[in-house]
Amino acid sequence: MCGIVGYSGIRQAVPILIDSLKRLEYRGYDSAGIAVFNESNVEVYKDKGKIVDLEKTLPNIPGNVGIGHTRWATHGRPNKINAHPHTSGNISVVHNGIIENYQQLREKLIRSGYQFSSETDTEALAHLINNYYKNDLVDAVILALNDIKGSYAIAVLCGNELVAARKDSPLVIGIGENENFIASDIPAILKYTRKMIFLDDMEIAYVAPDKVSFFDTGKKPIEKTMKLIEWDLEAAEKSGYEHFMLKEIHEQPKALHETFAGRISELEGTIAFDGLNLKEEQVKDINRISIIACGTSYNAGLLGKYLFEQLAGIHVDVEIASEFRYSHSSPGSLVIGISQSGETADTLAALREAKTFGGRSLAITNIMGSTITRDADSCIYMRSGPEIGVAATKTFMSQLGVLYLLALYFGKGKGKISSDRMKRMLVSLRKVPAQITRILSNKELIKKYAGIYSSSSDIFFIGRTLNYPIALEGALKLKEISYIHAEGYAAGELKHGPLALITKNTPVIAIATKGLTYDKMVNNIKEVKAREAPVIAIADEKDSEIEKYVDAVIRVPATDDILSPMLSTVVVQLLSYYTAKARNCPIDQPRNLAKSVTVE
Ligand code: M6R
Repeated sequence: MCGIVGYSGIRQAVPILIDSLKRLEYRGYDSAGIAVFNESNVEVYKDKGKIVDLEKTLPNIPGNVGIGHTRWATHGRPNKINAHPHTSGNISVVHNGIIENYQQLREKLIRSGYQFSSETDTEALAHLINNYYKNDLVDAVILALNDIKGSYAIAVLCGNELVAARKDSPLVIGIGENENFIASDIPAILKYTRKMIFLDDMEIAYVAPDKVSFFDTGKKPIEKTMKLIEWDLEAAEKSGYEHFMLKEIHEQPKALHETFAGRISELEGTIAFDGLNLKEEQVKDINRISIIACGTSYNAGLLGKYLFEQLAGIHVDVEIASEFRYSHSSPGSLVIGISQSGETADTLAALREAKTFGGRSLAITNIMGSTITRDADSCIYMRSGPEIGVAATKTFMSQLGVLYLLALYFGKGKGKISSDRMKRMLVSLRKVPAQITRILSNKELIKKYAGIYSSSSDIFFIGRTLNYPIALEGALKLKEISYIHAEGYAAGELKHGPLALITKNTPVIAIATKGLTYDKMVNNIKEVKAREAPVIAIADEKDSEIEKYVDAVIRVPATDDILSPMLSTVVVQLLSYYTAKARNCPIDQPRNLAKSVTVE
């Protein structure tokens, strides 16, 4: 989730590249770089830090063709060496996405005599293109892309020639007068042109000042249609969505895809984590895990508890970080701290406390180089990309993605999961991003129900077992952005007190996907219906029974029971979003809250 820009035209390239990169910085980045053809060769400048810091170090570089990049680290720390562009001979490359087979490519290229200086996957791509280059840049890029598994948006500079390509990562070509542009995001180049051509997967663009030619991967020319972008800059930053939260809800299929990228082999039934220094055999010795987190990350941890217990047979305690510090009880032999920001003071303090008991620690975070990555013994990155809305959405989804993989990995290490079940689960997991896309296409119905109940003063979310953490997350999301009092409850617990609050004015969102406790959940729904509460059920698309008991049903695609919480999550997020919108709330910046809570 980095930013790419490119320019080929009659103006000086450097000011345009720097200005365009600055327009991507609102998403938050850690390093930047440019490569410019200076009339005789390509000059590369890059560094850790903000674009203004890079700008200050730049000499006057004449030249009308160049590429630029802002990096949001996924492979390798944020530092100067890992910053893009990466070069090999005359080839310079900027890249967004993840090359899943970069280790194999790296080893092969080293055997052919290439030397690597960075920890990135992108450097392998630069060497690969150089390896194939025989005076035709498009040919070399096509041959290199044939060898690559994974996702990419790239811009490649060789002399004064500029080529772009994409797969599963956005890239747009801006059309000007005697100048053309490349960008990963429209806001980067909106100041220069409103005429845009969107690259589709497996398409390549050759970008010259007076012409852009498009090809498929067989080098067959393609006709593309130009679109006129009418958004203002603010709308463009949100890709046309009204709020960052809605944009980020829609980014979940991609976020999850990146979370899984390079970590799953469905064919072999294996899972591999780059940052986890715990081999499958070592997992055998872990009999108790403690998960420490706050807010949404806590809710993810609670689902993690069910997953580790069901899939790996390991007992898990989930602790609210701000409470754990004072509990004086010894944690499990593995402590997992979950924090999207990696800077939450309560989580950091609790993790440090837990480490004083000995034992291993593992961080699950979205931010490379954040404090939690330095405090924990090992770290797994969520790879959600930058999240701007205060309400956590896509980072929650990626946390769940990591926890599913981790629980399966432990299940295999403990001998609790057969190879067949593992393969089936991995195949089903891979389908989840597309299933989320289907739910998103049904959002008008969710918006309608949100509108009906948006004037309520109290709303309950109920679920059992795996759906209970999602009920908690639904209630947290709703209260955070709509200011409606909301409770997330384990449905079986209602009768022990909260049922007294249920009336015809208390809508209940019942997460009732199929699974172990479905019948009991139906009984709980009957309990609230008997108190005249309006009930919306979140249920499987194949469930023809549920509509007999509730006022409305929102369907999610049928999947392996254990995976359905990821799908229900999207529904509770959208319900919360549209409720807050109907109430005209400041969704991206709710009152009294901050994205990263760095005080205890
Ligand atoms: O950065 P973290 O994951 O450690 O943040 C923890 C909570 O502050 C956070 O999840 C908060 O609850 C969310 N903004 C809720 O949407």
